[in-house]
Amino acid sequence: MDRKLIMEALSQVNDPELHRSLTSLNMIQDVVIEGNDVTVTVALTTKGCPMKTTIVRSVEEKLQSLPGIGKVKVNLTEMTAKQKLSLFGSKPTSPIADPNGKTQVIAVASGKGGVGKSTVTVNLAAALKQLGLDIGILDCDIYGFSVPRMLGVENVKPNAVEGRIMPVPAYGMKVISMGNFVSDNSPVIWRGPMLGKVLQQFLTDVYWGEPDVLLLDLPPGTGDMALDVARMIPKSNLLVVTTPEKLAAGVASRAAQMADKTNQRILGVVENMSAFVCPCCGEQTAIFGTDGGKELAEQLNVPLLGQIPLTLEARSFGDQGRPIALADESVTAAAFRTLAQKVAEILRITIAAKQ
Ligand SMILES: Nc1ncnc2c1ncn2[C@@H]1O[C@H](COP(=O)(O)OP(=O)(O)OP(=O)(O)O)[C@@H](O)[C@H]1O
Ligand SMILES: [Mg+2]
Repeated sequence: MDRKLIMEALSQVNDPELHRSLTSLNMIQDVVIEGNDVTVTVALTTKGCPMKTTIVRSVEEKLQSLPGIGKVKVNLTEMTAKQKLSLFGSKPTSPIADPNGKTQVIAVASGKGGVGKSTVTVNLAAALKQLGLDIGILDCDIYGFSVPRMLGVENVKPNAVEGRIMPVPAYGMKVISMGNFVSDNSPVIWRGPMLGKVLQQFLTDVYWGEPDVLLLDLPPGTGDMALDVARMIPKSNLLVVTTPEKLAAGVASRAAQMADKTNQRILGVVENMSAFVCPCCGEQTAIFGTDGGKELAEQLNVPLLGQIPLTLEARSFGDQGRPIALADESVTAAAFRTLAQKVAEILRITIAAKQ
């Protein structure tokens, strides 16, 4: 056994909350090798860390998979105040809002309510995750949050470590929503200016790390929250969701005016609830009409990035807290996968253009 081999193996074990390797977090305090037996000392962020058994088990499993290894012992200790400070920083900053940070931000918006912003947000997120990207979801709908329910984490309360809020894990993604802080769906009754403060806190007090993509589920309309997002995350892009019926007058111009005002880039349009796909025979019926997405994309001079069919499974999966995008055989999942591919391509182009 040599130390390099052990450290290499430990670099593949992640802290379940911080989503970074134990080695990059400097959590491996000591490695003692006696013959083939190994004792590792892991420094936890806090002694009462609720994840400590998971960490111990992951370390044991990883090391025991090394050929020729003898006994593995894991000791736990706590980080020093200095270590914690270097890990979490003294002043919370948001790498997400940093214009030079690697995180690409997509705010999912629409001219009106109920068109499927939240559905598109969680499913696009899940499909991007499936492409191998590290994903965060910030539910900006403070009053009307629906992300936790759609991801089956409505009863999960976020943990706090050293004053930083840990995002709730869901399907390998990091999620934060007002819904994870209030009990039993009790209504949130704050006034407008409070909303900006909540967003600020969600950006700075939450330990996001640096996901590849952060998706924001905006509340309906072009209100205060959308402006706050643009102000606090100037690099955020907009993805506009619409339904296929003939455009309500002014929807496109409102979206365009808003992007103009905030200087945000519109990545493209997603048409949701396109033709209804019959679950029995697959026949398609254009219940809400056709071409709404195409028309909006043309008016905004941006690409139509996807058409998501209206299906029973989209709604029932959402109700069960599972993203339909992760289902194997499903027309809806296929549509979300195509959308994710296109969004990933566009974002890579942006990355390439910046370099
Ligand atoms: N493609 C689809 N097929 C079937 N049902 C869908 C589809 N997209 C969304 N829905 C359903 O429509 C309803 C509204 O969707 P969702 O909550 O995503 O809209 P929203 O735009 O986020 O609404 P709000 O403006 O209230 O935030 C939900 O019940 C959802 O399950
Ligand atoms: Mg919504």
